[in-house]
Amino acid sequence: KEMLTIVDKPLIQYAIEEAQAAGIEQFFFVTGRAKSALEDHFDLAFELEASLKERGRTALLDELRGWLPEAGQLAYTRQQRPLGLGHAVWCARHLVGDDPFAVILPDDLMVGDPPCLAEMVDVYARTGGNLVAVVDVPREQTKRYGVLDLVCDDGRLARARGVVEKPDPADAPSTLTIIGRYIVQPEIFGHLADIAPGAGGEIQLTDGLDRLIADGQPFHGLRVAGRRFDCGSKLGYLEANIALGLRHPELGEALRGLLKTYL
Ligand code: G1P
Repeated sequence: KEMLTIVDKPLIQYAIEEAQAAGIEQFFFVTGRAKSALEDHFDLAFELEASLKERGRTALLDELRGWLPEAGQLAYTRQQRPLGLGHAVWCARHLVGDDPFAVILPDDLMVGDPPCLAEMVDVYARTGGNLVAVVDVPREQTKRYGVLDLVCDDGRLARARGVVEKPDPADAPSTLTIIGRYIVQPEIFGHLADIAPGAGGEIQLTDGLDRLIADGQPFHGLRVAGRRFDCGSKLGYLEANIALGLRHPELGEALRGLLKTYL
């Protein structure tokens, strides 16, 4: 999914650019089998670059390069079995070490100014602890997300006393749900190591976060300024292409005209 293209870049490229805009300098990917395209994306493409150079296509060449990491800035690890998001994060424990870190789920594409993670890093400087991006959803959708149990809420920033993964609407403690952006304290790795499978039989990041709250760490949800496109759903993916296509400097006008012919 993360190699799916939105207009002219794969989702993973948007994720990296967002992390970079937040001042992040080290990037760890937890991948799975048959995901080598991801590693190749952040490498030189010798043949293609040589042929573009030969034809003097320098603008295209620059675009193709997009962002290339410095040697050692990227590392990859594999999650051998799909045991859940919490387990995926745990797979990166030796790469992350003892520092707070951010988690980005690339299929949640965030578009906005300031970029989502940069806005979070700014707020985190005040809150410390663990911080997630959140959005209000209709109650019938709580079953799809991690949901906050609120202590207080000023309309932008909410503090939680607990967090629960995919509750039934009737049991959901609120309708404020997690978007795929997290700032997390490294103590979570100890919990993820021995946590029992939760919702869907998977080891849930949400359950690890809930344990950190029980340990006394602050936990906040931030209603971020940007928009979320759920590119894990077909409709969300189409919408992201249309929304970003319409604001694309070269394609926007033409796409607007094209869409009119369909409506
Ligand atoms: C994951 C998290 C969930 C969060 C969601 C955001 O769920 O487990 O807490 O709300 O991402 O997209 P998934 O989409 O993997 O089911």
